[in-house]
Amino acid sequence: MKTRKVIIHNSVSLDGSIRGFDVDMQAHYAIAGNYKADVHLIGSNTAITGIQTFCPEIPKEEPGDFQKPQRDSQLPLWVIPDTTGKLHGLLHVYRRFDLCRDIVVLVSQKTPRDYLRHLEERNYNYHIVGDHHIHCPQALNLLTETYHAQTILTDTGPILNGVLLNNGLVDELSLLVHPVIVGPEKYPLLGNVTQNITLSLLATEKLPTGKIWLTFKCH
Ligand SMILES: NC(=O)c1ccc[n+]([C@@H]2O[C@H](COP(=O)([O-])OP(=O)(O)OC[C@H]3O[C@@H](n4cnc5c(N)ncnc54)[C@H](OP(=O)(O)O)[C@@H]3O)[C@@H](O)[C@H]2O)c1
Repeated sequence: MKTRKVIIHNSVSLDGSIRGFDVDMQAHYAIAGNYKADVHLIGSNTAITGIQTFCPEIPKEEPGDFQKPQRDSQLPLWVIPDTTGKLHGLLHVYRRFDLCRDIVVLVSQKTPRDYLRHLEERNYNYHIVGDHHIHCPQALNLLTETYHAQTILTDTGPILNGVLLNNGLVDELSLLVHPVIVGPEKYPLLGNVTQNITLSLLATEKLPTGKIWLTFKCH
């Protein structure tokens, strides 16, 4: 089972914030793509923020949105824990992306029935992996067993990253450090971590644009 690797990848300011500055999207996603992950694990808040930022006008669903896309099996699955149905009526925005194999939704025993029906009607795979929130160790095992996920890359903020770190589930931390200080509006990447975690530096790379890419091994 333990050939699986979980990588947290974030762009951060010098004061550790994940927002409140202009993220170098090109560099951020170039690094993310180089990991060739089988799964991108996307927090539901991140997914909502992405839609608000890049697709404020939600397109009407079309018949094709109810079918699983037929795409290259090498593309990553985008997996979204969404136990409360925040993405009800919005998932087709992501399903349409050419760079995603399909969307898988992780839910819990508490997830509203009408959201599950909504997913079923649109042929989304979903999995119940927890009583209230998702149970992260169980969710990662499911992704490895069911979808053969060896490399799982997070695209998420302090909340889900914090749960993963607090449960000792992260193998590598990848930080694209931007030379900016956000100040009082900062939203610290590691603000939800509840214990002391020692890391070891794997590599540093200075990018021509003035950012520094740091990678750390977590255990
Ligand atoms: N700079 C960067 O690199 C970067 C990258 C990604 C995102 N962001 C920013 O990060 C912000 C969003 O981050 P966020 O931390 O607020 O939210 P998030 O991590 O995107 O979403 C929270 C996720 O954690 C899950 N969750 C909450 N409590 C949990 C628990 N106890 N156990 C298991 N799962 C749990 C939620 O699931 P439920 O929905 O089921 O509760 C949800 O999927 C946005 O502003 C986004 O733009 C920045």
